[in-house]
Amino acid sequence: MLAYTGNLLVMKDSEAASQEVAQRFACAAVRAVADHGVFAVAIPGGSSPRRMFELLASPEYSCLVPWNNTQVFFTDERFVPSDHQESNYRLAYELLLSKVPIPEANIHRFATELTPHEAADAYEKEFKNTLGDYASLDMVILGIGSDTHTASLFPGSPALDEMNRFAAENYIEKLGAYRLTLTYPAINSAREVIILAMGADKADAVKIALSAEPDVFLHPVHGIKPSYGKLLWIIDKDSAAKL
Ligand code: 6PG
Repeated sequence: MLAYTGNLLVMKDSEAASQEVAQRFACAAVRAVADHGVFAVAIPGGSSPRRMFELLASPEYSCLVPWNNTQVFFTDERFVPSDHQESNYRLAYELLLSKVPIPEANIHRFATELTPHEAADAYEKEFKNTLGDYASLDMVILGIGSDTHTASLFPGSPALDEMNRFAAENYIEKLGAYRLTLTYPAINSAREVIILAMGADKADAVKIALSAEPDVFLHPVHGIKPSYGKLLWIIDKDSAAKL
């Protein structure tokens, strides 16, 4: 019995996991637009969402999503130019956003041309200008690092303590670089949070995430606890191997 409450879906492989997230993205989009006219979603970077992006850009899924009413945000960003090969915005734009009929104005990247602090503050302003002062995200899709970081909330990093701002700059000692990240308040106020983990290299992180004593400082994924929304883990068999 897992010392974890919530929903956990173990899929047979990464393709099935990616299909599941893509389907849930499309369903959540239709539901949110029908309910309140907009679908506000935050997507991650890294390798985990690549296949999901490709699926959402495919004719099978793209036609299901009300792109005109979809507002795309990012869970985090590397502090690099938006055309840099490490940019999460560039990854999503190349695999998904450039291939679907989403208005450019609905794509909200971190302005990494500003200073880290300015970029984080500007992100909150952009979110509120787009959706209103009291809005929350409909869906947040997260990955998880082998060190149990999520978004760019890394173990022991300053942004773990940010409980007021929507987004924050976060200097990551082990990377020797700034990241920009949504904060726990921004993520935990979402209607639905999906954490996607695939591959054997995530097995230890998934085990810690789902069964170790909560320790947000050491394992930031433990801080993902939606206040009233749903949390769903979608993982593949390889990353579930140590559960
Ligand atoms: C990023 C992500 C980050 C990612 C994890 C897992 O900017 O890299 O947002 O939080 O989800 O590091 O990365 P992989 O998906 O590449 O394993």
